[in-house]
Amino acid sequence: ASVVEHTFVVRQVKMTHLCKETLATVVNGQFPGPAIEVTEGDSVTVHVVNQSPYNLTIHWHGVKQRLNCWADGVPMITQCPILPNQNFTYRFNVAGQEGTLWWHAHVSFLRASVHGALIIRPRRGASSYPFPKPYKEIPIIIGEWWDIDLLKADWGIKQHVIDAYFNASTINGKLGDLYSCSGAVEDGYLLDVEPGRTYLLRIINAALFAEYYLKIAGHKFTVVAADANYVSPYTTDVIAIAPGETMDALLVADADPGRYYMVALPNQSPLPDPQSPTLITRGIVQYSNKQRAADGGGRPSSDIPVSPEMPDQHDMITSFYFHGNLTGLHHPQHLEVPKHVDERLFITLGLGSICRGGQSSCKRSENNESMDVATMNSFTYQQPAVATPLLELHYYNTDNRVLSMLQELPDKPPRVFNYTDPALIPPGPKEAKLEPTSKATIARRFRQGAVVEVVFQGMAILSSESNPMHLHGHDVFVLAQGEGNYDATRDVPRYNLVNPAVKNTVFVPRLGWVAVRFIADNPGIWYMHCHFGFHVSMGMVALFIVEDGSIVDTSLPAPPADFPTCGHDHNVMSN
Ligand code: C2O
Repeated sequence: ASVVEHTFVVRQVKMTHLCKETLATVVNGQFPGPAIEVTEGDSVTVHVVNQSPYNLTIHWHGVKQRLNCWADGVPMITQCPILPNQNFTYRFNVAGQEGTLWWHAHVSFLRASVHGALIIRPRRGASSYPFPKPYKEIPIIIGEWWDIDLLKADWGIKQHVIDAYFNASTINGKLGDLYSCSGAVEDGYLLDVEPGRTYLLRIINAALFAEYYLKIAGHKFTVVAADANYVSPYTTDVIAIAPGETMDALLVADADPGRYYMVALPNQSPLPDPQSPTLITRGIVQYSNKQRAADGGGRPSSDIPVSPEMPDQHDMITSFYFHGNLTGLHHPQHLEVPKHVDERLFITLGLGSICRGGQSSCKRSENNESMDVATMNSFTYQQPAVATPLLELHYYNTDNRVLSMLQELPDKPPRVFNYTDPALIPPGPKEAKLEPTSKATIARRFRQGAVVEVVFQGMAILSSESNPMHLHGHDVFVLAQGEGNYDATRDVPRYNLVNPAVKNTVFVPRLGWVAVRFIADNPGIWYMHCHFGFHVSMGMVALFIVEDGSIVDTSLPAPPADFPTCGHDHNVMSN
């Protein structure tokens, strides 16, 4: 095992897309940022140099950070943010994990431009993959281009003063030929393939706003891993990928040599906003051919790329089946699903209303007095007002202060009703029938080693979106999913306890539910949240605290010696 070292200089650079020059906050001048490529068991050292005007942290999405919660990168939970003109070095290792993960800023909406791939290859080499050794490995990062300031967009959404929306979808930072001011096929992402070869696409959804359907005309994918866990090979012509998820898929260049569009289509829930634009992006898969090489590599102009037939932009069913078809692959690193459960949680994901002042009920008629928030069991998350990160307070057990700040996330919602009744789907935000909600730093504490089962129930009152729920520091077994309301009597017997997919970001289907199980074996304070950026802004977050029960949690080592200290401005949002 070796040490892989990177320096990330985060600063604003001018980038021009859609005929407009925008100041984009990026790493090393690149969008997306640099890929970190390591071998399982390596140590990773990243020197972050913050030359941006923002407080910053970097989260290593999906890295378990075993006994290393300090490196998890959540502002004011695991660390003080890196202030402008300050530096901090993250150190962690990737033992016991292989596949595609990624890294991103964990402050407000900044992750839309501050992100990149984190690729972990097996120690025994590429021929030890549980699938044919690929000729090449290609990262495919689906993202968004925003031409307004990302922090302002986040603030505007939270305050309901701007209806911020991204301006284009991207593949590896390229907008493609469907946008004005790009226009040429060559402005999209180009993947050159050789006939007959097999490529491993390492696909990441780094977008804030949308799940995507990805297709390549004339080709099929074989999905072999998701969230850096191998899955049973699953052949499909469409990949559905929600924000935060990664999918590794084999692509065999077995079509007639030519040019084929690779299309990423944002999949949006049918309601409440049928007007939101469909911001498709497309690139090209092109076969190298000898004739072209003889012509000096120029592309024949008559060669019009073939287009794939895409699902409807409001089709949520294809995604439901795609996710339901993923099962885990038996493999040396494969873990058994624990058969007993110590703690059970049933969490409804919804939309609630609170008063701007924080009270739980105010007259909806006093228009601006209430605001819509995202909820879990009728609580919406409030970032604690602390001058020291919670994990430090917890580690040093400073006067039990952490405990006094937390509100326990209840085991179940305050009332039982038909959560997915279509009659509850709000026709518009104003008329929505919202649950009364309280705002608090919601958290659950688990004894180290406890087996926890969580059922996430989507609700119609969340304008019927799907929710990619992400847990830091752990992977979860995905036992079952279903449409409508979860019913333990009917659904527990359907649990897959044999070969469930293992994920860090679990897809909760629109108007449906998903059941997961995990072992809370990693001491620390871990963010658990929806990976849609606007759901985080609106409070769909809870803290999962794993502790060994003794007064001072001895299993978590002390914070790194060069840990940042907090400045005076603690008012950072985490995302
Ligand atoms: Cu990828 Cu808490 O995030």
